[in-house]
Amino acid sequence: MHTAISMLSRIPKISLAHLPTPLEEAPRMAEKIGVSKLYIKRDDLTGLACGGNKARKLEYDFGEIVNGGYDVVITAGGIQSNHARMTAAACRKLGLDIKLVLGGPDFTLLKGNLLLDGLFGAEIRYLIDDDANDSLTVAMKKWAVELSARGRKPYIIPIGGSTGLGALGYVQAMQEIAEQFGNGNVQIIVGVGSCGTFAGSLLGTKMFMPQSRVIGISVSRTAPAIAVRTGELIREEEELLQYHSGVNAIAIECYDEYFTEYGVMTQAGKQAIDDCALLEGILLDPIYTGKVMAGLTGLVQTKRIDPAVPVIFIHTGGTPIIFSFEEDLGKSVNITKIKTGL
Ligand SMILES: Cc1ncc(COP(=O)(O)O)c(C=O)c1O
Repeated sequence: MHTAISMLSRIPKISLAHLPTPLEEAPRMAEKIGVSKLYIKRDDLTGLACGGNKARKLEYDFGEIVNGGYDVVITAGGIQSNHARMTAAACRKLGLDIKLVLGGPDFTLLKGNLLLDGLFGAEIRYLIDDDANDSLTVAMKKWAVELSARGRKPYIIPIGGSTGLGALGYVQAMQEIAEQFGNGNVQIIVGVGSCGTFAGSLLGTKMFMPQSRVIGISVSRTAPAIAVRTGELIREEEELLQYHSGVNAIAIECYDEYFTEYGVMTQAGKQAIDDCALLEGILLDPIYTGKVMAGLTGLVQTKRIDPAVPVIFIHTGGTPIIFSFEEDLGKSVNITKIKTGL
């Protein structure tokens, strides 16, 4: 274990995120949900143009990119990828070139993260009506070959930044939470997409908060698929840290009943966004954190969370996505247009 901690501190990384992020108590949401104590780990405040979990992963990825002398970064994701936006911001901060392969439904207006990608001057190749991981990966590899042929040195960050290396960002995040919260009995809620945040949190709690229970809530994959991918990522992290954690992929706790389709807002997610905004002044988003908060609420209602044990909700960001859902989210906005003097 001590070797793993010292290995973690020796793996090269570039400082990109505003750390440590606050761990804030959310008493009104706790009451609403029905738990004794709820804390929100504000990783929506990590920086890189509107924050999010990816900043922690990118610190390790860019450690490798800068040390390796790469001059252009290629990454990929869906139309509203937070990872793509934050990678573009990181490239500009470090003076590197950025190419994005994005995919999904066709669009007319640049909104949310896509607008920000554009402001960062990312060159974007857009696969209309296809955001399958395999198609995006093929397009990234093709672009890397083209760039290399022109004398450039491209580095591909896989979709979501979820590699063993990137996941170390969440091993380090658990060290940060242990310093803020102490090593008590706590239930940690993590949203799961490409699994890196979850894999890092599971390994990090083994190392720094062994009494805690980590619970994943899926926004896109089935629970069995998450167990397989998370298990692979944990093995990669363990190799980097030369540490055998004993985390068993089969025993990973993850729920996949709180999303319908990736990218589509649910009614319960919308309710969670409204509640968190009205009760705590904190923004959640329709694709990730809203669903994860709805999942936490559902797990309390179905008695799968112990209400007496404190809960830490990892706020993984996603704020710009709100600005691509203005039609759905704007329905309840109460505005009366008046004229001067009335
Ligand atoms: C806001 C937000 N939350 C959660 C996740 C899921 O993280 P991961 O892909 O590491 O599972 C993502 C990934 O894109 C995200 O953007």
